[in-house]
Amino acid sequence: MSDEPAVKRDPFRPDDLPELLREALVRKQVFDPADAPHPLDSNVSESEALELYSAIRQNRPERSLEVGLAHGISALAIIAGLAANGSGHHFVIDPFHPTMAAAAKR
Ligand SMILES: C[S@@+](CC[C@H](N)C(=O)[O-])C[C@H]1O[C@@H](n2cnc3c(N)ncnc32)[C@H](O)[C@@H]1O
Repeated sequence: MSDEPAVKRDPFRPDDLPELLREALVRKQVFDPADAPHPLDSNVSESEALELYSAIRQNRPERSLEVGLAHGISALAIIAGLAANGSGHHFVIDPFHPTMAAAAKR
């Protein structure tokens, strides 16, 4: 038997992330609440989304707050983690993002 420590693997994988999130990253496009398409221009990467998902799964918060929603890519990762945990609420604010602020006013 080897004295080497076992390699610790992250148990979470990209396919744990919602398909909607992964599709938006591949297509570089999102849709607003009126179904109008917008280019995806400000977001975390897939690996950063997976880190957020992992942090939520491991820390199991009951509440999280995100300052800077943009198109919601990181929010999708966080919400997926909360859903897999079976509890928790995610709150977001972003009064400045042009697409989402306009959609919220409609
Ligand atoms: C890099 S983007 C966020 C990306 C997003 N978290 C994602 O991965 O999908 C930064 C966002 O922060 C917002 N922002 C900047 N200053 C802010 C503030 N003081 N309060 C809330 N949102 C802010 C901007 O409008 C922008 O949409």
